Amino acid sequence: TVRSFATTSSRQNAIKTVTVIGGGLMGSGIAQVAATTGHQVVMVDQTDDILGKSKASIQKSLQRVVKKKFAEDPKGGEQFVSDILGRITTQTDSNAAVANSDLVIEAIVENIDVKKKLFSSLDKAAPQHTIFTSNTSSLPIGDIAVSTQRQDRFGGLHFFNPVPMMKLLEVVRIPATSDETFNKLSDFGKAMKKTTVDCKDTPGFIVNRLLVPYTIEAMRMVERGDASFKDVDTAMKLGAGYPMGPFELSDYVGLDTMKFILDGWAEKYPENPLFQPSALLNKYVAEGKLGAKSGEGFYNYKKK
Ligand code: NAI
Repeated sequence: TVRSFATTSSRQNAIKTVTVIGGGLMGSGIAQVAATTGHQVVMVDQTDDILGKSKASIQKSLQRVVKKKFAEDPKGGEQFVSDILGRITTQTDSNAAVANSDLVIEAIVENIDVKKKLFSSLDKAAPQHTIFTSNTSSLPIGDIAVSTQRQDRFGGLHFFNPVPMMKLLEVVRIPATSDETFNKLSDFGKAMKKTTVDCKDTPGFIVNRLLVPYTIEAMRMVERGDASFKDVDTAMKLGAGYPMGPFELSDYVGLDTMKFILDGWAEKYPENPLFQPSALLNKYVAEGKLGAKSGEGFYNYKKK
């Protein structure tokens, strides 16, 4: 029937091999989920040492899954982990890593020039059909895509930390993204068992566009002396049903990351009042209080 033909042809067309560039916090999570859902993954980072650590962190994360899902079946659990790890190979040469790739997901350092340099080089090395995506949180996808000759095969795949736990995937299109590319990216997201939302290439996409100004307004509220940060967190958890208050979330994300995103937007869109700086945030970052990772942010994380 027509329907089964369509299913077969879309399956033949589907993304099977994925190159994840950057094996840090996000890249290793993305590689893990892509491999868990049956994709062949090549993970790229600057050194074999980093890649070794990325693979170890994936293994650790999978073992947590096994503890829950294979409590009665240790052999099955072992097989599960080794099957998934077997689908992930590593590479330090990104050009070589895209030779067989249907999809590139870039999750390297949040720096526009470094990203453009990478994609310009990959554009020459990758096959015609390969789709390029960035996982950037704060840079315009369009500003990265101009470094290539394949803007119709370019888009954004914005994942959330921790990738294995967080259900959402924002699929971002730039004006040049073809419908075929966009549909393939959406299908890939669903194949990764994520719930996808479609969005245009605007600052912060959907989630961060709402979350960052909200968080900064919470900081301004404390700056004005309207409420304490602890009471704001309590209020938003118990009154709005949020799992974390804005100050807990900022500590979790990293106050330096918050500031970096906000400053980038303020520079690019100086007229937008939502993107104006917060003196409180700047003070914490200047003092090296960056949140959970530095041991102290709004809350204290040092083991007593
Ligand atoms: P990370 O610092 O944990 O990892 C980045 C990795 O990229 C490092 O291992 C680094 O060695 C590697 N790298 C840097 N330059 C490279 C290059 N030229 N070639 C190959 N590897 C290179 O950073 P993280 O947090 O994983 O962020 C990566 C990207 O994901 C950024 O664009 C960020 O905006 C985005 N993102 C981050 C989220 C988060 O919660 N941390 C959430 C969603 C997106």
